[in-house]
Amino acid sequence: MDPIVLGKSASAADGTPSQLLPAMVNRHGIICGATGTGKTVTLRLLAEQLNRRGLPVFVTDFKGDLSGLAASGGDSAKVRERLAQLGLDERYFHSNPVTPWGPDGLPLRTTISELGPDLLAQMLQLNDNQAGLLQLLFKLADEQGLLLLDWKDLQALLDFASAERRSLTTQYGSLSPASLGAIKRKSLALEREGAAALFGEPALATADLLAPAQIHLFDASRLQPRIYGTLLLWLLAELYQNLPESGGAVKIVLCIDEAHLLFDGLPKTLLEKVVQIVKLIRSRGVGLFFITQNPMDIPGEILAQMGNRIQHALRAYTPGEQRAVRAAAQSFRANPAFDTAAVIGQLAVGEALVSCLDGDGVPQPVQRVLIQPPASRLAPLSAEERQQLLQASPLAPKYAQTLDRASAYEQLQQRRREAPAAADPGAGQSKRAATQGGSEFDRALGKMANSFGRQLGKELVRGLLGALSGRRR
Ligand SMILES: Nc1ncnc2c1ncn2[C@@H]1O[C@H](COP(=O)(O)OP(=O)(O)OP(=O)(O)O)[C@@H](O)[C@H]1O
Ligand SMILES: [Mg+2]
Repeated sequence: MDPIVLGKSASAADGTPSQLLPAMVNRHGIICGATGTGKTVTLRLLAEQLNRRGLPVFVTDFKGDLSGLAASGGDSAKVRERLAQLGLDERYFHSNPVTPWGPDGLPLRTTISELGPDLLAQMLQLNDNQAGLLQLLFKLADEQGLLLLDWKDLQALLDFASAERRSLTTQYGSLSPASLGAIKRKSLALEREGAAALFGEPALATADLLAPAQIHLFDASRLQPRIYGTLLLWLLAELYQNLPESGGAVKIVLCIDEAHLLFDGLPKTLLEKVVQIVKLIRSRGVGLFFITQNPMDIPGEILAQMGNRIQHALRAYTPGEQRAVRAAAQSFRANPAFDTAAVIGQLAVGEALVSCLDGDGVPQPVQRVLIQPPASRLAPLSAEERQQLLQASPLAPKYAQTLDRASAYEQLQQRRREAPAAADPGAGQSKRAATQGGSEFDRALGKMANSFGRQLGKELVRGLLGALSGRRR
């Protein structure tokens, strides 16, 4: 695969263009810089160039300004100016094969059980007690053969646990009503933030991201930061879990804008698992590019894994900003031609300090690079163009409609019909009646669990923990 030319180097004496080797993109990379300095444009260029080499790319569109990737460029005066500076002409512009995901595209969904209790607890911002209870509820659903697919399955499970709290207590230890209530409240708050749409079937099958070579553009502009961060951690875990060892070959590249949101408020135990995944995912052929304003927003252990570095301008007025500039400068292999820290403050928009790995995985000396403009259109697609893109997508027949097979919600409804006294949380019911009803309910559930079989139950325990034990679907 041809090296990716990022732009023209001002610092290399022989005028060697600054290159990113496609074989080295699974050593990951980072694009940083203050707001408005050109990070997203560089990300766009990178996605285009990787895709031109036949690699599928998954790009998060955090501001909803990347849909123009699907159209041919030349619309921006700044881009034309840059093209002339670099001695390129009109033939440079082209459109890209884009698969749109998100509110105006194909629904990007997972299931509650695939997200798993760890990440769901993080999404819900549960405290330790509540997170422990959620673990227990997943176990309960697993043992009772209740499928957790969509949002109403989660709600049904929570309602069931509340209603049957006493009868379930002997088997599962104490189910604290306060914690159950808190989880319910937090889940309703998350629902108001639009989380429900992210769950259900068909869930995203990672294999569909790999073929054919597309730019998968995920419009995340309407997602709450916490939901965004957790969903992307799920995607990382899922890719790691499902892809076979790649023997060094790159299979897909993920470009994640506002990447610090993946780590915001992450408990230490979860962060340790994410660090592990970032270290190991390379062996599955996944390259990660994180885009963020300040590299110090990314945990050090993750940052250390980012082999290819592109640094746009940073301001250096306050002591904090000066510290950030020094840290950024120190992360580069020095170039005797200039003072890295001084240049970070002088970079123009669309100019960057670049140091990529050479064929042996050694960082090349940092270069000052005038970044090549993207070949696609900077302006977003019109509503009509979006519609066309969606209809033309080869994945539309599979993902455009929603499946709603019988899962926890329907299963519990059916149980209620068969044992009405049991499941009615029962205004006015005596405690004794409720308890009796509960055991009847247990028997009914026992029967149901048998009919669903253990096999299915086992599959329900998934998520990040599963990802780390290397278990495959
Ligand atoms: N390589 C480039 N060639 C030509 N113009 C560029 C280039 N990079 C950036 N620009 C110009 O600068 C503008 C801002 O760039 P961009 O949106 O990438 O900034 P950003 O760093 O992502 O900002 P934010 O942090 O606010 O998201 C672009 O809309 C474009 O006009
Ligand atoms: Mg941006």
